[in-house]
Amino acid sequence: MLQINKLCKRYGKFQALNNLDLSIPKGEVFGFIGPNGAGKTTTMKIICGLLSATSGEVYVDGIDAIKNKKEIKRKIGYMPDFFGVYDNLKAMEYMEFYASMYGIVGDGARKTCRELMALVNLSDKEDAYVDGLSRGMKQRLCLARCLVHNPELLILDEPASGLDPRARFEVKEILKNLSSMKKTIIISSHILPELAEMCTSIGVMERGHLVINGSIDDILMNAKGSSPLHIQIVDNQETAIRLLKENPAVEKLSIRNDEIIVSYMGTEQDEANLLKQLILNDVAVSGFVREQGNLENIFMELTGPKQKEAV
Ligand SMILES: Nc1ncnc2c1ncn2[C@@H]1O[C@H](COP(=O)(O)OP(=O)(O)O)[C@@H](O)[C@H]1O
Ligand SMILES: [Mg+2]
Repeated sequence: MLQINKLCKRYGKFQALNNLDLSIPKGEVFGFIGPNGAGKTTTMKIICGLLSATSGEVYVDGIDAIKNKKEIKRKIGYMPDFFGVYDNLKAMEYMEFYASMYGIVGDGARKTCRELMALVNLSDKEDAYVDGLSRGMKQRLCLARCLVHNPELLILDEPASGLDPRARFEVKEILKNLSSMKKTIIISSHILPELAEMCTSIGVMERGHLVINGSIDDILMNAKGSSPLHIQIVDNQETAIRLLKENPAVEKLSIRNDEIIVSYMGTEQDEANLLKQLILNDVAVSGFVREQGNLENIFMELTGPKQKEAV
């Protein structure tokens, strides 16, 4: 859906994007993560045709986005990180105004706008003044308006920033809904946990290029010190220890009373096979759980001081 090759952007002498390569398949929810100033907004604006690149290529659904800015705008819904000020404009008028910019007018426009307001849970705010809405509501309204032309690719710049937990939860629910509608979604954040649970893949950006890129599962799997497996055993612990020591995916194990903690490099399928093997060998297993990978730790590890020197 999106292919970026060697994208560079200079603001005067400052190199904001430095040979950025990025590829996002259709249907993906891609978390674009990086500290403030990393270049996320710059990248997003270039994809949408709102900013010119210094050099490099951007393809959206196979179309050259740099040469075909107008065509690209029809395919993309962009939610900027800054919500403007709209004096004396009601929510429905705001929606219809944006619809009209895409040539959607009349009864059809009203119907589309109503449906989108419902999608973002703002049906009861159609006649409310935009400036009077809460930040969370404004955010959802903004999301609704970038859907008016039914874009395939959604580019959302920090959609959850500054929201309280309840409002953030609502945004996440809406995004899940959109993802089930097969939209490709790119969402940026400078806070990793805000995104991790709802993304299928992430890219971590630092100083103008990606330092980590891939599916959440792969990143968790490949990261150093992959999460340990906790096995609770009520009987026949010796057999379990013998089998574990023979298992190639087991790197290290430690025993704490009836619990064996295993440093384990296998896949989910390997885990299932291991459990089956233990049970078939008369080991009485009462607990078998992989510690949840902690994406935040991995993020800190991969982007820590050592990594910075290597970049
Ligand atoms: N219009 C501009 N002129 C000069 N520098 C800019 C401009 N826009 C952004 N920058 C700089 O480019 C870098 C990347 O900015 P940005 O893309 O907004 O990062 P992010 O969205 O990841 O916080 C920052 O160091 C920022 O100060
Ligand atoms: Mg930004």
